[in-house]
Amino acid sequence: MIQRIAIIGLGTMGPGMAARLARGGLQVTACDVAPAAIERAKTMLSAAETVLDALGIATPATGAGTVRFTGDIAEAVAGADLVIENVPENLSIKADVYRAIDGLIAADTIVASDTSGIPITQLQAHISNPARMVGMHWSNPPHIIPMIEVIGGEQTAPETVQTIRDLIRSLGLLPVVVKKDVPGFVENRVLYALLREVVDLVERGVIEPEDIDTCVSWGIGYKLAVVGPMALLDMAGLDIYNSVSSFLNADLSDRKDVAPMIGRKIAAGTLGIKSGEGIYAYTPERIAELQRERARKLVAIRRILEGRD
Ligand SMILES: NC(=O)c1ccc[n+]([C@@H]2O[C@H](COP(=O)([O-])OP(=O)(O)OC[C@H]3O[C@@H](n4cnc5c(N)ncnc54)[C@H](O)[C@@H]3O)[C@@H](O)[C@H]2O)c1
Repeated sequence: MIQRIAIIGLGTMGPGMAARLARGGLQVTACDVAPAAIERAKTMLSAAETVLDALGIATPATGAGTVRFTGDIAEAVAGADLVIENVPENLSIKADVYRAIDGLIAADTIVASDTSGIPITQLQAHISNPARMVGMHWSNPPHIIPMIEVIGGEQTAPETVQTIRDLIRSLGLLPVVVKKDVPGFVENRVLYALLREVVDLVERGVIEPEDIDTCVSWGIGYKLAVVGPMALLDMAGLDIYNSVSSFLNADLSDRKDVAPMIGRKIAAGTLGIKSGEGIYAYTPERIAELQRERARKLVAIRRILEGRD
């Protein structure tokens, strides 16, 4: 049974995960090599706790569900039943972490990676007892989005997948088992298929960015939160899907490289919110407002979808 969890890497994802796992009554040790990241993570943890309160997720019994911060990886993983590696999306950085913890953890300690798409089979080549390594892909913001992908690599034991799936279920979250270790797993494959098409439509001048955001959010997106795509096929009728896709599939973007529009924006230093401009332009005030507004709306929608409101 998993009770003690070490999270290695406290950037965008780590603090929200720590908050959610602790809310489930687990003992979390949160570790980062950068002291500034630890300080930032403490603030993010308390913000995530406020959001979890708003979501109506019950607090555990007194004394259960703790988060302890440390800059020392050996201290972080000591006695852990599960280590969640959450360092940058780079195989050599991740492999260094696995090598560092290998001699410090028990042979049966499960090692999970939050990688967004590096095949688990590649990652598990860098740790002993690869049967205990598994993908545990959270979605950002991790304390708000309840779906978590669970991915086994070629050498992952079925019991490892099952243990992580059961852990996620026991937290009241939604595990989705990805049966084959395909690049990008499933959530990002679907998202990137959508992103390829929307960038292509904007680049070809078919639609303005604001209008495609309205089209997708209030057309497909809003509906997809209630009816998943496979259920949508049944709702539309497979005969309708067959007639539309018989001419439309051939016209959809199938480019293998990245659209030039993205390269031009990167070359101009416009990377999105982090640089104050990307597809849209942002002031610091607008960024703060968007972050508050998006968290508030995601919480409100989730409460309604779960029948809490
Ligand atoms: N950001 C997202 O939206 C998102 C969503 C799902 C999954 N992921 C995946 O989660 C992982 C982490 O992503 P992120 O966006 O939180 O990254 P990030 O760059 O924001 O944070 C990574 C943290 O890891 C720390 N770190 C680096 N080396 C370390 C080491 N050896 N020991 C301890 N800490 C170390 C860094 O100091 C940094 O604080 C990546 O694999 C990413 O692909 C990200």
